[in-house]
Amino acid sequence: MTSIELQGVTKKYGDLQVVQPTHLRVEPGELVTLLGPSGSGKSTILSIIAGLVSPSSGRIVIGEQDVTYMPPAQRNIGMVFQNYALFPHMTVYDNVRFPLAIRKLSRSEIEAKVKRALEMVRLEGLGDRKTHQLSGGQQQRVALARALVFEPRILLLDEPLGALDKKLREEVQIELRQLQRELGVTTILVTHDQEEALTLSTRLVVLDAGEIQQADTPQQAYRYPVNRFVAEFIGTANLWPGEVHGAREESFITLVNGQKFSGRSAEQVNGSAYLMLRPEDLEVQPEPEGDGLLGTVKDMVYLGQNTRMHIQLDSGLTAVAVMSGVRSFTTGQAVRVSWLPEHAWLLPAEGT
Ligand SMILES: Nc1ncnc2c1ncn2[C@@H]1O[C@H](COP(=O)(O)OP(=O)(O)O)[C@@H](O)[C@H]1O
Ligand SMILES: [Mg+2]
Repeated sequence: MTSIELQGVTKKYGDLQVVQPTHLRVEPGELVTLLGPSGSGKSTILSIIAGLVSPSSGRIVIGEQDVTYMPPAQRNIGMVFQNYALFPHMTVYDNVRFPLAIRKLSRSEIEAKVKRALEMVRLEGLGDRKTHQLSGGQQQRVALARALVFEPRILLLDEPLGALDKKLREEVQIELRQLQRELGVTTILVTHDQEEALTLSTRLVVLDAGEIQQADTPQQAYRYPVNRFVAEFIGTANLWPGEVHGAREESFITLVNGQKFSGRSAEQVNGSAYLMLRPEDLEVQPEPEGDGLLGTVKDMVYLGQNTRMHIQLDSGLTAVAVMSGVRSFTTGQAVRVSWLPEHAWLLPAEGT
């Protein structure tokens, strides 16, 4: 098992800086997800690690070794990219064998390794098929077997499941996670699908405009986002603007209607800020007396196990609440929205 380290890596194309100075360490055996909107630099960072694109500055260290100037083939990295370039008229077996053929192993070694790789992705018995005769999920697994067959120390996956429909994607996700754990291969996965990122990763790296916003466990990033971008990119967030006063341990935010609430924050927040609450942290009650904000029910959506409510608050703000079970509220009904103080999270407003 090996670590991957980006030390001050940047990338410029002409005047356009697409990767801002980036420091990131991926621990041995970790599965880290790069998550961000289209154009945020995810593929560029992956290509720099693979050696397919050279950085404008900074260093790439794999294990103890500086590989910044090492050609891609010597880096011992398995890769699966979105438009997986399998050879369509070659058999599954020959596709998986390909990386070994250029590595000059004996025929029996090659046979054993291909067999094992096909078993790993549960495609044993399909070796003689042409890859164009396979389903999308099977093709994806061939690509994975081909990336793993030479026992790489690192696996780089660039939206590998993007072409699959939801159900199949979820199946392959689970298989991928198991396989990655079994092999202990240090993995970086690129996705713009936040659910995929939350399901699969030990840590998320959220990118915006070529800059890491937050690198954290999925739970931390969801619960304690560092800014509005992360709060909204991972899940749904109620973000109510206001003014913060007070010290870090006990800060208060005054919302636009003059009501004051306590909240916690990662760093000292002062001045313009947001009070963030996740939809599942909101409690909605018909009684007007008590803590919280008053409003009326705008819309209710039953989602089987849950009910999602959209609430127009009297302060002009809106709230989204998700509650378990079926709730008997009607559209237009007056309600009160409340929350436990420990769920209130304060974020600085942009540009402060
Ligand atoms: N070869 C290139 N030449 C010029 N600009 C590029 C090149 N490759 C990528 N870019 C630009 O770099 C930015 C980041 O791209 P990319 O890493 O592919 O983003 P992502 O994978 O997050 O969608 C984009 O603005 C893209 O247009
Ligand atoms: Mg990309």
